[in-house]
Amino acid sequence: MPKQTPTNNEVTFPEDNIIVSKTDTKGRITYCNELFIQMSGYSEEELLDQPHNILRHPDMPRAIFKLLWNTIQSKEEINAYAKNLCKDGSYYWVFANVTPSFDEKDNIIGYFSVRRKPKQASLNIIKDLYTKLLQIEKSSGMEASMKYLQELLKEKGVSYEEFIISL
Ligand SMILES: Cc1cc2nc3c(=O)[nH]c(=O)nc-3n(C[C@H](O)[C@H](O)[C@H](O)COP(=O)(O)O)c2cc1C
Repeated sequence: MPKQTPTNNEVTFPEDNIIVSKTDTKGRITYCNELFIQMSGYSEEELLDQPHNILRHPDMPRAIFKLLWNTIQSKEEINAYAKNLCKDGSYYWVFANVTPSFDEKDNIIGYFSVRRKPKQASLNIIKDLYTKLLQIEKSSGMEASMKYLQELLKEKGVSYEEFIISL
């Protein structure tokens, strides 16, 4: 499906609501709740079976998604901030928790994601970080932005997870 050119129009959702989706092991959407559909601007039919990157916003650094996939494929959960692209080019920020789902033999059978509205103060820090990561990716590639992120965490003496939770 062709994507709209991103606009500066931000859309938000209430603090007590959650945006939920499930994917198969490849990241194709197998379930989304009503708010997911509403925020995305797509219909449920347009979303189901589509790769989750249907919501990918060009302002998002690739390093964050690399970290996300590395973590969930290692059978661990991750928390991450994401700027998502709507069908009409608008955007919305989320604080996402993504977890693997397992069968009885501990094989990954898919992934589950719950997104909340981020706090403004945390978002201000994340926006600066993502701008920097994106800038590095444009000039030197994703390995360089990943290295920058790792160095930053080392300097702070925290893991990625500890950093995210501290915001
Ligand atoms: C359960 C789950 C939820 C995801 N949610 C989002 C999301 O809300 N927005 C997004 O851009 N990518 C999300 N992703 C990551 C995408 O699969 C994809 O890696 C990302 O959009 C970057 O696209 P690319 O891998 O084609 O570069 C999610 C992945 C999983 C497994």
